[in-house]
Amino acid sequence: MEQYAIKGGNPLVGEVEIGGAKNAALAILAASIMTDETVLIENVPDVRDIHVLLQAMESIGAIVSKVDRHTYKINGSQISSLTIEDDYIKKIRASYYLLGALLGKYKEAAVALPGGCNIGSRPIDQHIKGFKGLGANVKIEHGLIVTRADELIGNHIYMDVVTVGGTINVMMASVMAQGQTIIENAAKEPHVVDLANFLNSMGANIKGAGTDVIRIKGVDKLHKTEYAVIPDQIEAGTFMMAAAITKGDITIKNVIPKHLESITAKLIEIGCEIEESDDAVRVVSSKPLQHTQIKTLPYPGFPTDMQPQISVALGLSQGTSIVTESIFENRFKYVDELARMGADIKVEGNTAIITGVSGYTGASVSAPDLRAGAALVIAGLAAEGVTIVDDIKYIERGYEDFNLKLKKLGAQIEKVTTERDYRKFKFQAV
Ligand code: UD1
Repeated sequence: MEQYAIKGGNPLVGEVEIGGAKNAALAILAASIMTDETVLIENVPDVRDIHVLLQAMESIGAIVSKVDRHTYKINGSQISSLTIEDDYIKKIRASYYLLGALLGKYKEAAVALPGGCNIGSRPIDQHIKGFKGLGANVKIEHGLIVTRADELIGNHIYMDVVTVGGTINVMMASVMAQGQTIIENAAKEPHVVDLANFLNSMGANIKGAGTDVIRIKGVDKLHKTEYAVIPDQIEAGTFMMAAAITKGDITIKNVIPKHLESITAKLIEIGCEIEESDDAVRVVSSKPLQHTQIKTLPYPGFPTDMQPQISVALGLSQGTSIVTESIFENRFKYVDELARMGADIKVEGNTAIITGVSGYTGASVSAPDLRAGAALVIAGLAAEGVTIVDDIKYIERGYEDFNLKLKKLGAQIEKVTTERDYRKFKFQAV
């Protein structure tokens, strides 16, 4: 099994390039089958979740051609099946974006019902409510969500909770519906806006993405486009935390600083210095970190996908910090792992009470999910001695070349698979 071996203690210094946003790319790739013409998509991150979605798309007849590591051509004219099997959904929930895309294009789709996952139960009632609102019939049959409509007709759809996936799915289902759809209480995340921009570049008529009311006027059909995915807000935020926690100085390039504002604000509050330019942020951490309070919220609030990483930084900050997780109930699973490295964190319900310690010590830990896995890696970068992070398959779902990018910044990190690799790493680490 592949692991990361990390020898902590080096301040990370230098420049790092951020890749395309995984969560935006997943939505955009799924939506690209909605035209029969060939769509070119650039800045797609080379990560596992994307590979699985592309396989799911190929399984129904989409033609996927890789132009280079980050560029794909997609053609959806040969789609011959409207059913996405369980295998894909088990590997990656976002395969359910094909539900909205296929329903929108063919007025019919069947996708395996996603189960819970390791960050908590994740209902899809709002997606279903939206499809029904457009006139589709939705049934659960043999573990599949089966949806069909004679006609999709625009409607007023009020989301009971702010949901990224629900907003994306309903947006895709409604772009070719008759008349106007209004999604109220819509998610405002950058990837919702990116999908709307992408669909508009294919001829859709979507206004208001990025606010909580999205207005979609149905069009007859969509056409080809060329489009580049936005930079990954969470990958950038993770490197910002790595700078903070290692007392480093990292310039994070190819970002949209506006998307990072909630993270930037918290880093300034805990004692980092931040310099912003048009498409880069520099994080300098030269003073002892201070405690703070965090509550995860939908965008533009502090992202739940950054909660484990900032908690790792707060574990080394002076004083007691309170972190409240308000989006997913099971997102503190990494706390027991971090405790093995010396963190002092108590979890009560959806709140973590973090008492700063003077340092972490290296230990063997397991990545419980994607973002928590990344958080444990950055904890290892600041720890005394060697840390082994297991189950890095989770991290590789969403971070391209994570170890290589960290190494370029001066981290001592290697991917190891055998005991021999590990002994070699320990011997060479200084
Ligand atoms: C997306 C992101 C994920 C991020 C999350 C919140 C992708 C592929 N994933 O996940 O990385 O952590 O947004 O920013 O983009 N809910 C319902 N009913 C629904 C749908 C959601 O009650 O029908 C609840 C969820 O349980 C959760 C909250 O709404 O408490 C937000 O979930 P949602 O925004 O839908 O998250 P995802 O789209 O699954």
